[in-house]
Amino acid sequence: MKNANDVVAADLGYICDHLSQEFSTMSGKRLVITGGAGFLGYYLVQAVVHWNRHFTDSPIDLAVYDNFMRGVPDWLEDLRGENNLSIEAYDVVDPLPASFGDADFIIHAATIASPIYYRKHPIETMDANVQGLRHLLDYCLEQKEKGKPVEGFLFYSTSEIYGDPTPENIPTPETYRGNVSCTGPRACYDESKRYGETLCVNFARQYDLPIRIARPFNNYGPGLKITDRRALPDFARNVLDGNDIVMLSDGAPTRTFCYVADAVVGYYKILARGQNGESYNIGIDKPEISIRELADRVVETSRELFGYEGKVVMEVSDDKDYLTDNPNRRCPIIDKAVEHLDYRPGIQLEEGLKRSLLWYADNREAEDA
Ligand SMILES: NC(=O)c1ccc[n+]([C@@H]2O[C@H](COP(=O)([O-])OP(=O)(O)OC[C@H]3O[C@@H](n4cnc5c(N)ncnc54)[C@H](O)[C@@H]3O)[C@@H](O)[C@H]2O)c1
Repeated sequence: MKNANDVVAADLGYICDHLSQEFSTMSGKRLVITGGAGFLGYYLVQAVVHWNRHFTDSPIDLAVYDNFMRGVPDWLEDLRGENNLSIEAYDVVDPLPASFGDADFIIHAATIASPIYYRKHPIETMDANVQGLRHLLDYCLEQKEKGKPVEGFLFYSTSEIYGDPTPENIPTPETYRGNVSCTGPRACYDESKRYGETLCVNFARQYDLPIRIARPFNNYGPGLKITDRRALPDFARNVLDGNDIVMLSDGAPTRTFCYVADAVVGYYKILARGQNGESYNIGIDKPEISIRELADRVVETSRELFGYEGKVVMEVSDDKDYLTDNPNRRCPIIDKAVEHLDYRPGIQLEEGLKRSLLWYADNREAEDA
């Protein structure tokens, strides 16, 4: 693999190979994705386009909705005119647009997911996770009553619903109830996801609807804009600008990092065959490494790929809330997804970092929004 095109081609092939059963079930049916212009949308959308182009005579009819609050990304603009794909501006806080039609599968990914941005727009973040979700759940109920039931609905929750888990709850199973502030600077995100899950399980139970929930743990890789202000894109930006890698903390908190191609396989598995009213951790269970170690690995990989000569330096963020309520450790138990869905993430950190940095080298410009 030498550049971003090679990386994306390999990843899309990998995703479609691992989803042949699920995408076959969805073929000939209509899928709606909200928030499809975002990081996860990058592969959620392109994987379906890839499937339609190369693997089936009975395409999945895909509708992407997004309010494009952070711009329309080039990759999505390039897909305009693709058969069986519609792209439309829509804010999920508003009533559903007429074009929504009869959906067989729905993925609700629309919200603001980057901590820097959701702290700037807390109300919009909560509205997308609660009000936007409610419109879609009401739609599922109406469709059932009309005799056109939805076959699968996926709500994106987050590993942040666990907050800062107590040590005996790390690694963290789905049964852990969380240690979360309801008023801190991250609460707009964490608490609206928690209430979103409560809405989902109650709609699933009361109306017997196929509503399923993903709890993503630190996904990284292609599609995550270099300007997103999450750790890895910040490090990539430093490397590609020829600067030292700047860490805005002591780098002690630990995470496991799941390459996005693996995570996207997990999400479609939940959508197509997760159990109703159930939540699934989607991530990777090892290695659990500190942010400092991640930065060191980025230095090493960049040295091999680009002859990078920088090092890691520490600075203090001028944002006083930068680290408030930031969990110290985060590591999932993924046994439930393995058992119910045969979810088996296979791309290790070393390979994922290499692919990510190659992708960033060809995607170093992005709107700073
Ligand atoms: N990426 C991760 O590691 C991760 C971790 C935990 C949870 N999640 C969840 O997964 C989902 C997708 O995450 P992402 O990383 O792709 O986020 P992202 O911020 O990259 O993309 C979200 C998209 O939603 C759109 N959006 C925001 N508000 C909207 C609204 N009101 N109406 C319509 N569109 C709106 C944005 O324009 C953006 O294109 C989110 O719900 C997020 O909370 C992601």
